[in-house]
Amino acid sequence: MARITLRQLLDHAAEYGYGLPAFNVNNMEQILAIMRAAQATDSPAILQVSRGARSYAGDAMVRNMIAAAEEMFPAIPICVHQDHGNGVATCTSAIDQGYTSVMMDGSLAEDAKTPTSYAENVAVTTAVRAYAHTRGVSIEGELGVLGRLDTGTGEQEDGHGAVGKLDRSQLLTDPDQAVDFVQLTQVDALAIAMGTSHGAYKFSRKPDSEVLAMSVVKEIHSRLPDLHLVMHGSSSVPQELQDEFNAYGGQLPQTWGVPIEEILEGIRYGVRKVNIDTDLRLAMTGAFRKVASTRTDEFDPRKFMIPAMEAVTSLCRLRYEQFGSAGKAARITPVPTSAMAARYAAGSLDQRITTS
Ligand code: G3H
Ligand code: 13P
Ligand code: ZN
Repeated sequence: MARITLRQLLDHAAEYGYGLPAFNVNNMEQILAIMRAAQATDSPAILQVSRGARSYAGDAMVRNMIAAAEEMFPAIPICVHQDHGNGVATCTSAIDQGYTSVMMDGSLAEDAKTPTSYAENVAVTTAVRAYAHTRGVSIEGELGVLGRLDTGTGEQEDGHGAVGKLDRSQLLTDPDQAVDFVQLTQVDALAIAMGTSHGAYKFSRKPDSEVLAMSVVKEIHSRLPDLHLVMHGSSSVPQELQDEFNAYGGQLPQTWGVPIEEILEGIRYGVRKVNIDTDLRLAMTGAFRKVASTRTDEFDPRKFMIPAMEAVTSLCRLRYEQFGSAGKAARITPVPTSAMAARYAAGSLDQRITTS
């Protein structure tokens, strides 16, 4: 099936009241595992590619692996999304590679570490939006800086995240500013800061409203009911995955992720895209550890990869079912980017701002 834009997918998700997990991909095994889950549940898929993934695999490899996935899974609409673009060049090069969606993360400067001013964020996001929409490609913006509310720190383990201490006003998206930002930039989706952060170490206990500010989702949704919200750093870091990892020699300190019930609450209030990377990493490496410690004479990498892919497929199946995207693939016919470009040019996709 043809590629689909993020905007078309999220409009469908909003119409039918569900959410879509967006899974990070770096290699063939992750792509196969996610696509098998999408096929088994009849869910559309969002495959998102970080700058780290593009430099790990190389643009040609990423492009061709995704082309292979389209050929192998023709019934599944696939959105190919640039995760955390750090500037115009990253996003325009992704669009030129055939991505159907880009995230311009203008909350941080091009170094992906230094928080920007609001004006800088608006300027760079608007520049990318102009390039993207002219080509019918969707754009996700970000307002507010991802990071932990208890420590005031961004994640440091993925190379993309604020360095140093952040104050609460930076760590929580301002709903009034969100209205202004969407009006000015005309992004198709908005990532918001609400206490989630990337990586495994999000919360030091099961999160409550002190550290996971679901109120931000609700306030923005009440002002912008038609806006598609994106939750980043939304791995749940399931206890079973932590236990499995540690049962075979791992030393992951006890940690807590974003509970599924909080994500489902978000979906009720306009969250349509839920970013998940860490859970897939943990599922894969936990499976590697099990093979390495229980079959110590095994040296065929495929014997490590097969259970790792199965672990990722079962996690992804669960998320497609939990978020409600299961069963939706067959109900969507992708609109080509050329037709999306015409709709943007006609103004029919302008974000409807109904402030209350
Ligand atoms: O944006 C965060 C994702 O977890 C991607 O991480 O840059 O190490 O691929 P990465
Ligand atoms: P996790 O680290 O919680 O999986 O978040 C991934 C993410 O937000 C990618 O953009
Ligand atoms: Zn993210």
